[in-house]
Amino acid sequence: MSESLISVRHLAKSFGDLEVLRDINVEIKRGEVVCIIGPSGSGKSTFLRCINQLEKPTSGEIIYKGDNILDKNADIRKFREEVGMVFQRFNLFPLKTVLANVTMAPVLTGHMNKAEAKEKALELLAKVGLEKKTEAKPFMLSGGQQQRVAIARALAMEPEALLFDEPTSALDPELVGEVLNVMTELAKEGMTMIVVTHEMDFALDVADHIIFMDEGYVVEEGSPREVLGNPKQERTRAFLSRFLLHSGDGNDSSIKNISEKRNGHEKVCCDNNS
Ligand SMILES: Nc1ncnc2c1ncn2[C@@H]1O[C@H](COP(=O)(O)OP(=O)(O)OP(=O)(O)O)[C@@H](O)[C@H]1O
Ligand SMILES: [Mg+2]
Repeated sequence: MSESLISVRHLAKSFGDLEVLRDINVEIKRGEVVCIIGPSGSGKSTFLRCINQLEKPTSGEIIYKGDNILDKNADIRKFREEVGMVFQRFNLFPLKTVLANVTMAPVLTGHMNKAEAKEKALELLAKVGLEKKTEAKPFMLSGGQQQRVAIARALAMEPEALLFDEPTSALDPELVGEVLNVMTELAKEGMTMIVVTHEMDFALDVADHIIFMDEGYVVEEGSPREVLGNPKQERTRAFLSRFLLHSGDGNDSSIKNISEKRNGHEKVCCDNNS
């Protein structure tokens, strides 16, 4: 797990006068799950969009497998094929069946022929629990099912890494678990994932590394134990206590409750020293 797959160096992004990302330096190691947390407007989505080149960074480097993908001559198409993205609002093709949604990219990119893509899609749809929905259209599915199709679609390209931008925040609460379960399985299988999320249980359980962003900066980063359990920066503490209070976690804003309320998981020692 030690090799860096993606190294972000001195990344900055402005929209006009608005500096949204400022000198971001992040290492994503192969097989690692990195969760990005932070307040609304702190630049989390912009950061993911810069990695995936949906936004053009103002300056900095994104090194992927040794090459800076921001170089003029970089093969962005190949990078996009290898690093998939799952969005908050699923972004499925509305008129296509579930199966067609999943087979489309591998066929169009020449990654697989139709028969191979279909076989792969059926395997992936079974993996996300949707083997009975192959002929359904997206509107016939719940939000959680649509998001699982979106994950299967991203996996169909056999990606090296997946980026997730708040994949559960558009879902009704009772549908969140089914999507997080799929993501947890992927993590166990060793998929490299960068996940913007407000799901602190998931971050605590599944992340190898947590990044707390605020106002375009990485304010604090480390293991879940360090960042969620024993945050050093006042801004991180304020965010976490606010978040936990809003999450209705009980009468104590300590993240200790997050780890202690769950059974069957590793207990994380989380003294709240705020
Ligand atoms: N295309 C754009 N043009 C101008 N400003 C933008 C654009 N995209 C984002 N911004 C601004 O950049 C800042 C960071 O936005 P971003 O969407 O990255 O935040 P975020 O951390 O993902 O927030 P949230 O948790 O609400 O999703 C915000 O002030 C936003 O208004
Ligand atoms: Mg966002």
